[in-house]
Amino acid sequence: MRDFLIAGNWKMNGSSAANEALLAGIVAGVPGGSGFSLLVCPPYPYIASVAARVAGSAVKVGAQNVSEHESGAYTGEVAPSMLADLGCEYVIVGHSERRAMYGESSFQVAAKFQAAQAAGIVPILCVGETLEEREAGTTESVVDYQLGAVLDAAGIAAFAKAVVAYEPVWAIGTGMTATPEQAQDVHRHIRAQLSKKDADIAAQVRILYGGSMKGENAAGLLAMPDIDGGLIGGASLKAKDFLAIAEAAARS
Ligand code: PGA
Repeated sequence: MRDFLIAGNWKMNGSSAANEALLAGIVAGVPGGSGFSLLVCPPYPYIASVAARVAGSAVKVGAQNVSEHESGAYTGEVAPSMLADLGCEYVIVGHSERRAMYGESSFQVAAKFQAAQAAGIVPILCVGETLEEREAGTTESVVDYQLGAVLDAAGIAAFAKAVVAYEPVWAIGTGMTATPEQAQDVHRHIRAQLSKKDADIAAQVRILYGGSMKGENAAGLLAMPDIDGGLIGGASLKAKDFLAIAEAAARS
């Protein structure tokens, strides 16, 4: 049985004061029950203070990006070991905003995935198609390519300590959520692709949905057999909204 992971991707939002208010609300409102974990991924400068703030609570800390290099002359980059040092358990790699705006290739994403794991951090590998790709009927081949780059580099065994996030680009920040059925189709496909390599690993890997997930649609998405949580942007910035999704996970 796979536990749900409800992960907040704060993106480039927050301040010391806003983070404190958000985390106070989240920590105080963590739903009872089991079968889910909560994660917040703040911008780099706040990771240490967020980790200190949530210490001892049910909320874990992750990062939104990481360097594929271990250390050295990479101005402006952050090493996986530094994230581990600060208490990050997870790191998002290959978010569509990084692929589209910062030119990250699937090969670079694969290198980041491996570097994170080498530092003991669980990568959350984001994959997903644009609207044009969906309309052209290429959703599965796009996802296969993005997943395949990591499978080729890291091998299926690496997925025993990884999370996949299916994030259709057209649903991110647009309010246009994939229907539970649309999401489930792609989640099932991703699991089937992994299953061709190793059925046991495929059965235990968590596949999150991301793209305008909120309290109102979370229960329907989480009820799908291959949806194991959410990667949440906008709705992770208000405690009430994030907790509504957590509650759907606790009930589902
Ligand atoms: P959204 O973002 O929930 O605001 O659509 C999700 C994401 O980009 O991870």
